[in-house]
Amino acid sequence: MELLDKYDLPAIKHPIVVIGAGGIVKDAHLPAYKKAGFEVKAIFDLDYKKAMQVARDFGIKVVSKKLDELIGIATLQGCVYDMALPASTILSVLPQIPDESGVLIQKPMGTNLKQALAILDICRKKKLVAGINFQLRHAPYVTEAKKIIDQGLIGDLHDIDVRMNVFTPWHLWKFLFDLPRVEILYHSIHYIDMIRYFLGNPKGIYAKTTKNPLMTELASSRSSIIIDYGDVIRANINVNHDHKFGLKHQESYFKFEGTEGAIKIRVGVYLDYPRGLPDKFEFISLKGDKGWQTLNIEGSWYPEAFIGPMAGLMNKIENAEYEYINAVDDAIHTMELVEKCYEFNDSKK
Ligand SMILES: NC(=O)c1ccc[n+]([C@@H]2O[C@H](COP(=O)([O-])OP(=O)(O)OC[C@H]3O[C@@H](n4cnc5c(N)ncnc54)[C@H](O)[C@@H]3O)[C@@H](O)[C@H]2O)c1
Repeated sequence: MELLDKYDLPAIKHPIVVIGAGGIVKDAHLPAYKKAGFEVKAIFDLDYKKAMQVARDFGIKVVSKKLDELIGIATLQGCVYDMALPASTILSVLPQIPDESGVLIQKPMGTNLKQALAILDICRKKKLVAGINFQLRHAPYVTEAKKIIDQGLIGDLHDIDVRMNVFTPWHLWKFLFDLPRVEILYHSIHYIDMIRYFLGNPKGIYAKTTKNPLMTELASSRSSIIIDYGDVIRANINVNHDHKFGLKHQESYFKFEGTEGAIKIRVGVYLDYPRGLPDKFEFISLKGDKGWQTLNIEGSWYPEAFIGPMAGLMNKIENAEYEYINAVDDAIHTMELVEKCYEFNDSKK
């Protein structure tokens, strides 16, 4: 299957304006939009020079000096907004977006549940068609796993395991050192959202998030999360970003087990970071006799998955009935679980 066939690309490709010209825009948003054939009309960042550089690198013709200028262009040309800003700034920018616009907002949806609810409220009051960029749901290996599970090939899904034992160079993201919440809010949030995509909203969640003893100024870098789906279904996230002992014992995988089969995905991006290793997709179905099979999956989390939330937004604008899996109304439940993780963690101190 061709890469773009995996995405529900919209019949009408709305032009885009981008707010924020940081790392994720450069590394993932713009490369993904290029692959999808989405046109970016203009970009704005408080750091004008940075926006200029990104515009040069990606052939964006207009760099706005002020947000108002960008909004003027968007209004004139019928653009959707792509906001990729620090979570703490979303609430100051979102109210300025014109009513009834299409807006894709980078995760997390604010820095805590209170902010997430305020963001949801603004989206509703302004009648925005709005999504949160939980793009892992659209990573080609995740959509393949969903397809296999929906086809019943592994029977009833009853176990999801997310395991990361990797080395993450936290010093690259200076802003994280000032924040009260880090690992779950910025990283494991993706896995919580992905597990909700497969299993729906759980009964509860338990979490412990821990500091690195050699980097105590960072709020946390290791987390153990149990998502409670009752007596039969198990969903665990087990993340250690501090394994600095070489590649030999690094691990980075998602595993799905059903009553009649299993899927194991090696998530290459976090191994030997930032170089990464190839992904690997393996599955077994007891309904066949092929044993473990390895599938070649075109595309990966970065950048291809970033096509999905933007394509979905454009589809939702054209068709109110479209099931937009990244809609703010769904994303709020991921934020609720993140909040509960921290509540649980703090209650045990
Ligand atoms: N997989 C993912 O979904 C993923 C990965 C990395 C980062 N992110 C998220 O993306 C967001 C941005 O991350 P980043 O790594 O690009 O950060 P970054 O610090 O590299 O970039 C943020 C940019 O926003 C600009 N900015 C800040 N306030 C602004 C405002 N009010 N108006 C215009 N520009 C403003 C800054 O000047 C900066 O250039 C964060 O919320 C982060 O959590 C998501």
